[in-house]
This record gives sequence, C-alpha cells and structure tokens, in this order.
Amino acid sequence: MEFMLDTANLENITQGLEIYPIIGVTTNPSILKKEGKVDFFEHLAQIRSIIGPERSLHVQVVSQDAKHIIMEAEKIRYRLGENTFVKVPVTENGLKAIKFLATENFHITATAVYTTIQGMLAMLAGVRYIACYYNRMLNCDIDASRVIHELSSLLWASHGDCQIMAASFKNINEITTAFSNGASCCTVPYELLETGLSNPSIANAVHDFDTDWVAIHGDSKIYDL
Ligand code: E4P
Repeated sequence: MEFMLDTANLENITQGLEIYPIIGVTTNPSILKKEGKVDFFEHLAQIRSIIGPERSLHVQVVSQDAKHIIMEAEKIRYRLGENTFVKVPVTENGLKAIKFLATENFHITATAVYTTIQGMLAMLAGVRYIACYYNRMLNCDIDASRVIHELSSLLWASHGDCQIMAASFKNINEITTAFSNGASCCTVPYELLETGLSNPSIANAVHDFDTDWVAIHGDSKIYDL
C-alpha cells in the first residue's frame, strides 16, 4: 500500500513528508497552475530536491500527438533524471507513445484513466502505474470501484511490475474504497490527509486520556517518572 501526494505545493510537500508515509509526488498541468507562473523544470527540480532520490516524481506531458509526447518525455527524463515517471494520458496517440517509451525503458504512469479498457491497454503497453480518476469517474456515472477492482484483478498480465494508482479524490471515503477494491497506491491532495486526522472524536479521545492522566499524576509526564 502506497500514498503519494497529488500536489506541487512545496510547503505541503515538505510538511507532508514529515507527517505522512509518502513515497512519491504526482503532478499535472492543473496542479502546477495552482502554484502560479513558476518555471516548470525549476519547480519540479525543487520538488525532487525536497523528496530526495528514492521517492518517485510523476510529471505529465502536454503534447497530444505521439511524436511530441515522446519528445516531451525525453526532455523530462533529460532535465529531471532517469527515475522520473512520465505521465501520459491513455488516448490512441498516448498509447502509441507509451508503447515506444516502454521499449526505451522509461518509467511511465498512464493517466486520465476512466475505464477498464484504457487500463488494460496501458498495462499491456508497459506502464508502471495506472492512474484511475476516481472522483472524475463518479462524476460521469462510471463505477470507479468496479474499474479499480477489474484492473487490479488483471495485474498478473503485467508480470508484476504494474500497479493501480487511484487518483482524483475529493473525500476520504473514496480513498479507502479505492484501496479496498485493489488499488495499491493512492495519490491524494495534502488537505485530504489532514481531513483524515481531523475528526473531532480523535481530539476528544486524546483530551479524555489527558484529563485522566492529570487526575492521577498532575503535570508530570511519563518521561518525568
Ligand atoms: C493524478 O494523477 C491526477 O492527475 C489527479 O489526481 C487529477 O485530480 P483532479 O480530478 O482533482 O483534477
């Protein structure tokens, strides 16, 4: 089970890494737009320096024809390093590019996946992650859990090196449902992880334990005893 941060915000990434078990960062043009008019490669290099060499960084292409998708993937790998995952939308042109990039040993994340057939084709074309757009699927009345369940049950076809990365989350229930239906990775906005720990019952439980401790031990803590 893996969590990634679906953000390009440097502060959120820095803080997120301190608190949560994060193994990578995913971006797309809309996520980067939220950071304003930043220099594309400079900003992504900053993210890489924050997350270090071991965590994965996923960067999306913007061209829509195979030749230019491949050129962008080459530039991304050249500027950001071999270990960068290139995100390619699963369109006809995207799939054509994915097939070629796989033969060149690129790390590829298939993105904009709404259907099982998209994921199956991407898997067989050689991607390492399939980014299934959970909330966007629900918005189109597509059964996101079913798509994730079906794709995760087909992973044997990828010879073990492909994973289902669920993405596009708007609430915690979508995340836990994606995992329980077979996603091995969820990429989530920082704010949603905060929400996951912000249930008032958690704070109330901690407060009650503290009150009971103070009733017996006063201001002393365990490290004072
Ligand atoms: C990540 O790979 C996706 O690009 C992202 O989660 C999409 O999120 P959105 O549907 O909130 O734009």
